[in-house]
Amino acid sequence: MEQQPIGVFDSGYGGLTILKEFIRALPQYDYLYLGDNARAPYGTRSYETVYRYTLQCVQWLFSQGCPLIILACNTASAKALRTIQQNDLPRLYPQNRVLGVIRPTTERIGKFTQTGEAGILATAGTVLSGSYLIETNKFFPEVKVFQEACPMWVPLVENNEYESPGADYFVEKHVKNLLAKGGNIDTVLLACTHYPLLANKIKQYLPPGVKLISQGEIVAQSLLDYLHRHPEIEARCSKQGCVRFYTTDSTKDFDAHATHFFGKPVASRHLGE
Ligand code: DGL
Repeated sequence: MEQQPIGVFDSGYGGLTILKEFIRALPQYDYLYLGDNARAPYGTRSYETVYRYTLQCVQWLFSQGCPLIILACNTASAKALRTIQQNDLPRLYPQNRVLGVIRPTTERIGKFTQTGEAGILATAGTVLSGSYLIETNKFFPEVKVFQEACPMWVPLVENNEYESPGADYFVEKHVKNLLAKGGNIDTVLLACTHYPLLANKIKQYLPPGVKLISQGEIVAQSLLDYLHRHPEIEARCSKQGCVRFYTTDSTKDFDAHATHFFGKPVASRHLGE
């Protein structure tokens, strides 16, 4: 049987925070990462645009042979995943699978909160989709979810300004807005894969006792479970511990920025190569 890497997709660099955790939890697999940096950010774009861009990237990863793709992007998971799973996959690649990051996260979120109030920090697209409210309600109907869109955070991160004093203004503003929406939030989720780079700043504006949760480990654990439950997909995943990176924009820029997200040097190739 032919074996190929697991595809990991994000609009830009954010998915690298998820890929890092995949490699930690499942180092034996090969991964093929695609960042659509040329068209990022996705968070402020319409459904149609996010769906169209995501489908194009998914098709490219399938054309490289990936049997399984993880959309390591909340915005793409919120706006494109369902349509791709329900309409495109059965028609184009019935043997292949595409998974997202929202369901694995909402399956766990209720376990973190003691007060029954959780806060979601995300892009405008993810917030407007209502996906976190709908999915959390399926698994933990007793948990109240409050959301805050942070449209400036991805540009701050993508432009390497996440540690600058300028970032504090936008971090403080959105953290305060979120906390003001619920009286008793004790769990705050970073529901955008770019946001872990802002975690240190975000923590400064959270009251003691409020937990800040990043998705990487949760999604990696969920992938591990998925591969156990789906041996027919697992058998098609290659296992040489090799990771390759592709970007739709400049490889020089990608390699320079990617280290901050991935924690190690990265040598990317352009999509056309
Ligand atoms: N990293 C993406 C997410 O998790 C969003 C980045 C963007 O706006 O392109 O939502």
